[in-house]
Amino acid sequence: MTDTLSIRDNRTGKEYKLPITDGTIRAADLQQIAVDGEPGLATYDPGFVNTASCRSSITFIDGDAGILEYRGYPIEQLAEHSSFLEVSYLLLYGELPTQEQLDNWVHEITYHTFLHENLKQFIQGFRYDAHPMGMLMASVSALSTFYPDAREVKDPENRTMQITRLIAKMPTLGAFAFRHVQGRPYVYPDNRLSYTANFLAMLFKMSEPTYEADERLVQALEILFILHADHEQNCSTNAVRSVGSAEADPYSAVAAGIGALFGPLHGGANEAVLRMLKRIGRTDHVADFIEGVKDGQERLMGFGHRVYKNYDPRAKIIKKACDDVFEVTGVNPLLKVAQELEKIALQDEYFVKRKLYPNVDFYSGLIYEALQFPPEMFTVLFAIGRTPGWLAQWSELVEDKEQKIARPKQIYTGIRTREFVPIDQR
Ligand SMILES: CC(C)(COP(=O)(O)OP(=O)(O)OC[C@H]1O[C@@H](n2cnc3c(N)ncnc32)[C@H](O)[C@@H]1OP(=O)(O)O)[C@@H](O)C(=O)NCCC(=O)NCCS
Repeated sequence: MTDTLSIRDNRTGKEYKLPITDGTIRAADLQQIAVDGEPGLATYDPGFVNTASCRSSITFIDGDAGILEYRGYPIEQLAEHSSFLEVSYLLLYGELPTQEQLDNWVHEITYHTFLHENLKQFIQGFRYDAHPMGMLMASVSALSTFYPDAREVKDPENRTMQITRLIAKMPTLGAFAFRHVQGRPYVYPDNRLSYTANFLAMLFKMSEPTYEADERLVQALEILFILHADHEQNCSTNAVRSVGSAEADPYSAVAAGIGALFGPLHGGANEAVLRMLKRIGRTDHVADFIEGVKDGQERLMGFGHRVYKNYDPRAKIIKKACDDVFEVTGVNPLLKVAQELEKIALQDEYFVKRKLYPNVDFYSGLIYEALQFPPEMFTVLFAIGRTPGWLAQWSELVEDKEQKIARPKQIYTGIRTREFVPIDQR
C-alpha cells in the first residue's frame, strides 16, 4: 500500500507530497525540498537509529514482542529442531534444504575446512599473546589473496564457492588462533566429525587418536551458533554490507565485519557479564549490587537491549542450554548468582519500568566458560556463528539492483575556502 506524507516547508511556504512505502519515505525524495540556491533537504542520523539502508528478507525482529525469525522460522523452533549448517543454508538460500540438499551442503562444507599451509604459517607469525580476534580478522582478510577469483562478485557460482569456503574455514581459523595462544600444535580438521564436533576437536585434541566431545556439549555450542547466526542490520553486518557495496570480495567484507564485532559495544558484552558475576561472587551480595545499579553506580551487564524491550528470545533458549552443559561439566557456582540477579531484577520496579530483560549475553558467557573457553575466545565463537548471516546479507546486497556504493552525506562544520599560509608565517 502506498500512502503519502504532506510536508510544508515553512521557509518557503511550499508544500510537498512524498510517497510512504513500507512505513518509510525515501531520503532522496527530500532533496526536492530546497530553498533557492541551496542543496535540498537531507536527514541527519548518526548511528542509523531511524534509517533503513536496505530491503531484506532474511531476518525479522520484533523487539517489543521478543520475536526473532530467520526466513520466517521462529528462532525457538530452529534451535530445537535444526543444525547450524541447516540454518546456514536457510539463511543463505531462503528455504530449509531437502535431505539431499542438506547432505550435499554438509559434504561441501566438510571438504573445504582445510587451510593452505602458507596461511598456517601466516598465523604462526603472530606474537604469542596476540588476541584471537585480531588473528581471525587478519587471516580471513588474507584468504582473499589465496582466492583472487573471489573478486568476481557478480558471478553466482563463484559467490557460492567463496561462501562455502568461508563457512568451512572459519572454525579452522578460530581454532588455529586459539592453539597459537596456547602454544599448542595446530590440529587439522577431521572430516569424519560434524561441523561443531570438528571445531571442538581442533581446539582441544591432544594425543588421543580421535577427540570425541560429549554430544551434549556439541549440541549446546551448535545452539549458540544458531542463536548468533544473524541479527539483521547490526553494526558488523552493516560493515560487511558497506565494504561489499564497493564490490570488494567477500573475505575483505567479512574481515570488516569481524573488526566491528571485535568492539566491546557489539561482541564483547558476555565477557563483561562474566567479570560482573565474578565480582559479585555470592548470592548474598546480589541485593547490594542491584542497589548500586539503581543508584546509577553500576550497569547490570547482560540486561537491556537497543531492540528488545522484552525477554530476548535467545536468552530463554540459552538458559535451557545452560542446564544441559552443567549436567556434563558440573554447575558453575556463578550460575546461582546469575539466577538470583535475574530473579530480583525481573521483580524490581526500576528494571520493569525501563523494560530491562536478560539479553543473549547474560548466560552465554557462563556456558563458554564451562566449555573451557578463555574470555578472548567468546567473540571468536560469535564470529563463527555470525558468518552465514554476514554472507547471506552480502549475497542479498550483491543481487539487490537498488543498492549503491555506501556513501553517507555529512554536515560540514569546518572552515571554508582560505589562502594557504607558508610555514614561516604561521
Ligand atoms: C544494550 C544497551 C546498550 C541498550 O541501550 P539503549 O537502548 O541505548 O538503552 P538506554 O541506555 O537508553 O537505557 C534506558 C534506561 O535503562 C537504563 N539501563 C539500560 N540498560 C541498563 C542496564 N543494563 N543496567 C542498568 N540500567 C540500565 C538506562 O540507565 C536508562 O535509564 P534512564 O532512563 O533512567 O536514564 C544497554 O541496555 C546496556 O548497556 N546493557 C548492558 C550491556 C549489555 O548487556 N549489552 C549487550 C547487548 S546484546
